[in-house]
Amino acid sequence: MLNWDDPLAISNTLAVAKTPPISAIQAQEKVNKQAQLIDVKPVNVDDKRVVNGLTDINQLAPFKYPWAWEFFLNANKNHWTPLDINMSKDLHDYQHRLTLEEKHVYENVLAYLTTSDILAMRNVGLAVMEKMTAPELQIYQARQVYEEALHTWTYQHCIETLGLDQSEIYNRYRVVPAINQKIQLANQKINSILRADIDLNDKDELENFVMSYLFFAGVFEGCWFYNGFSPIFALQRRGLMTGTAEQLQYIMRDEVLHCAFGIRVVNQIILENQVKLDPKAINDMWMEAEAAETEYAQYLLRDPILGYSAEHHIAQFRYIANRRAKQLKQTEPFPGAKNCLNWLDEQANMRKEKNFFETRVTEYQSGGGLKW
Ligand SMILES: [Fe+2]
Ligand SMILES: [Fe+2]
Repeated sequence: MLNWDDPLAISNTLAVAKTPPISAIQAQEKVNKQAQLIDVKPVNVDDKRVVNGLTDINQLAPFKYPWAWEFFLNANKNHWTPLDINMSKDLHDYQHRLTLEEKHVYENVLAYLTTSDILAMRNVGLAVMEKMTAPELQIYQARQVYEEALHTWTYQHCIETLGLDQSEIYNRYRVVPAINQKIQLANQKINSILRADIDLNDKDELENFVMSYLFFAGVFEGCWFYNGFSPIFALQRRGLMTGTAEQLQYIMRDEVLHCAFGIRVVNQIILENQVKLDPKAINDMWMEAEAAETEYAQYLLRDPILGYSAEHHIAQFRYIANRRAKQLKQTEPFPGAKNCLNWLDEQANMRKEKNFFETRVTEYQSGGGLKW
């Protein structure tokens, strides 16, 4: 018997019902009585809206956005915990094989990512979810909140396993300007939409909300996370820190969905509300993101590591940014940007023949390559 007061304790006592049971007929009568008091027409699917909808938020189906439900089902096919992945080789690599430059890269990637995932969790869970007026969207976002927490656990597991100084690593975003700048940009966006009095029927407020969501989906998750992982994949390519890289491959599967979902929601809000975003504001956002990423890359890779440099990192950012802009139906912010890391897509993919957990289904629904 599950003990609701202390679910982890094994209860030896049977729960005693405090209220007497009522018959099915009595229960139905109660429902009928309540029904007389309220409008009982089922939700008209056409009335549902991503934001500013007036339909009952507690009725899941019929779906207006069946794709959101598909995202939820797909997300549930990527199950793992950081404890499932063997990290013993990483400990050896970190202590005996990584150069000082590579240690600098590794530690700062973790320092940046761990703070970022807390922000990603707060953004979806606190600022975005409550503004959605269709439950199928909120259900996927609830899963996303859990996944961001799982990602934070993953970085913590890496930090703990390698015996890094936790208070120093977790504080790094506050003392390293190049990391701090990226975090502050994201903080500004969240803070502008976390207000309790926000009214998305107001044109300016709605535009600001869309710009913030667009930033998180397109830049923060869609580019900065993607770019954030790639230095570790460069180490993995050379047989280094392969446990951490496997953890990031799992995270990347989630992030692929987060980015795609966010962009889809943004496009849908724009369509439903005839939002006209200011092209200059969008261009400024990309330029600001590029400037911040450039500073970050120059700090992270002040000394290049074998097969990966600051120039690679920045060029890759521009290339991915163009892809995101296209998904958002915008013009490319960095025309002519080239894919300079041809190996990255393949490296980021979990290879199908690898099955770490013999007793679990770990195969990912989409099977082949991740489509970023
Ligand atoms: Fe995440
Ligand atoms: Fe995410």
